Parts: sequence; C-alpha cells; structure tokens
Amino acid sequence: MPTFNEAGNIPVIVERIVAALGKTPCEIVVVDDDSADGTADVTRKLGEDYLNLRCIRRVGRRGLSGACVEGMMAASAPVVAVMDADLQHDETILPEMLNEIRTGADIVVATRYSGDGSTGDGLSSTREWGSKLATNLANRVTGELSSDPMSGFFMLRRDVADQVAGKVTHQGFKILFDILSRVEPGTEIREVPFTFRERHSGESKLDALVTVQFLGLLVSRLTGGLVPGQFLLFALVGFTGLFVHMAALFALTGILGVGFTYAQVGATLIAMTSNFVINNNLTFAHRKLKGTRWLLGLLSFYAVCSLGAIANVSVASHIYSWQTSIGLAGFAGALMSSVFNYSVTKLVTWRDV
Ligand code: GDD
Ligand code: MN
Repeated sequence: MPTFNEAGNIPVIVERIVAALGKTPCEIVVVDDDSADGTADVTRKLGEDYLNLRCIRRVGRRGLSGACVEGMMAASAPVVAVMDADLQHDETILPEMLNEIRTGADIVVATRYSGDGSTGDGLSSTREWGSKLATNLANRVTGELSSDPMSGFFMLRRDVADQVAGKVTHQGFKILFDILSRVEPGTEIREVPFTFRERHSGESKLDALVTVQFLGLLVSRLTGGLVPGQFLLFALVGFTGLFVHMAALFALTGILGVGFTYAQVGATLIAMTSNFVINNNLTFAHRKLKGTRWLLGLLSFYAVCSLGAIANVSVASHIYSWQTSIGLAGFAGALMSSVFNYSVTKLVTWRDV
C-alpha cells in the first residue's frame, strides 16, 4: 500500500485486509513517502498488534509508481497485490483475485469498468470523465488488455512483479498501465469487478501534474519507449518558453521602452527562468531543487541553455548550407538544442544526489 498522508486510514484498512484474507497468510507493506501527518508512526505503532505489518519510510522521494515497486520488491510473498490505503479499493475481493492467480492468471486487475464493477461514489463527474478518456487513450496504446488499465488495484505473481520492476517509470501515478504496456504476449490477464468507494479520510493526491505526467507516459509508450515521456514534457515546457519570450519582448520594448537588443536579452533570460521554474515543478518534480540548490540550478540551467543555443545555431546553419530550407534547418536546430538541453540539464542541473 503506497501512502502519502493517510494516517487516518491505516488502522481501518489494515484491520479490514486481515479480516478479508481470513486464514490466508499475508504480509502488509506500507510504503510511505515521509508523510507529514505521521502515517509512518501510526503504521509502526499498529505493527505492535499486527506482526505481519511493516512500514517503509522513504525519505526525500515522492512518486506513487516508485513506491508501489519498492513495496512489491520488499515483500517476500509469492503473490503481491497493490492497493490504495484510503479504502476506495474493496479489500473483500482479494481472495477472489488470489484465486484467479492460483488458477493460472499472471496479472489480475480489479476493474470498475466491467461486469458488476462501477465507479460508485468514488469519483466526481469531472474525474469520471477524465478517467474514461484516459482509459480510452491507454487502450489505444496497449490494445484492449484490460477494461480498467487506470486501476490502482491489482495483483501479480512474484516473477511478473520482478520482471517489470526495473522497467516501469517511477515518477508516474499509473503503474498498472505502465506494466500492461510492457507485458510479454501470451500473459494471462484476468479481471475481478469491484465498486470504487468514497475516500475514507484525507484527500486525493491526483492533480494537474499527475495528468500531464500521464500524457508524457502515454506518448512514451506509444513510441515503444523510444521517446522518453520526460523529454516530451521538457520539449513542451520549451515551447511555452517561446510565448513567454514574445510576451516579455513586447512588454520590454513597448511598455518600458527598452531598446531591441537589450529587450531581446532580457526576454531570453525571462523565458529561460520561466522554463527552469516549470521544469523544476513538473518535468523534474521528483528531484525538485530548493533554497541554494535552486539558485545554483538556475545558473547551471542558464549556462547549459546558452550552450544549447550555440549548438542550435551551428547545426541549423550547417543544414541550411547543404539544403536551403529554412523550415528544415530551423526545426533541426531547435530539436538539437532541446535534446542537448534536456540531456545535459538532466545530468547537471537536476542530477541525482
Ligand atoms: N508513497 C506514495 N507516494 N504514495 C502515494 C503518493 C506518493 O507520491 N501519491 C499518492 N499516494 C498514495 C495515496 O496515499 C493512496 O493510498 C494511493 O496512493 C492513491 O492515491 P489517491 O490520492 O487516493 O489517488 P486517487 O484516489 O485520486 O487515484 C486512485 O484512483 C485512480 C483511479 O481513478 C489511484 O489508485 C490511481 O492509481 C487510480 O488510477
Ligand atoms: Mn484515492
């Protein structure tokens, strides 16, 4: 169970899982991303009564998919299930899911979109619409492997979990979709319907960031992993920089009366700063820089992007000299600098420390 601020839910869900599984032996691993509400403490305290309950407290890291992978890897059971801690997932179907594994399934998806399954009171109408749209898009990528690839409730055989652990993207929210987009042909996927419940206590962590990250993952899986989702986000942010640049340029020349050359320099700095801020909160949210490291990061971002601009211009003018197409040369130059800026800032500005 991945958790982020779920202190109020842990005692309830743990008791319910143990009751649902009855005589089936189980271990419960809570993977908490250092929640401020004391989820880890609550879990450990409860561990005095439940000896099969353990807590992994991850420090300085965030990410639902990564937490799920770590939890699966920490368990020693031959079968692992991932479920939310907020009681939205119906724990009473766990035995039925386990039975599907015992009778030959490799992956069991708890689905809201087939048979008796439903989204119940669990989703607002906007979320329900978004969830259906995401499901449709995902099914175009994976083929119709499951009626609910967005589900956060599923069970895997240990060897399947081991296989996918090193492949899935750790930053995302949609780990099941990521897993489904990577399974070998012939993998037996079965489903057990359930009714999505209302969240018990606390609030949802799904936000705009999660949605944008999902779109990145979608395109990345669409290209068979050739184009990393993270690069797409970075390129998209670069694109927004163009608008920031133009707006700043007009404001500096028009409103403040700055001469063109100075205004162009100013606009470039403003656009780079805005790109840095968005990338820091979106593309590299999992390695977000703060304080002094934020400032150093900004300076290194300026430096790398300036080199990127030189690379851009030299590639573009070479291509232009071979083949006098402004469009082609310009595009190649821009692509060159975004690939350069992405790979270098990933290594320098947002390096894993
Ligand atoms: N460790 C960790 N780190 N856990 C997290 C993080 C994180 O960064 N973000 C969320 N969680 C935990 C929550 O504490 C909860 O137990 C579970 O992951 C699901 O998060 P919610 O915030 O409740 O997400 P949701 O209800 O909006 O979305 C759920 O339903 C979707 C289907 O509509 C999730 O199960 C999604 O995976 C699912 O797609
Ligand atoms: Mn939830």
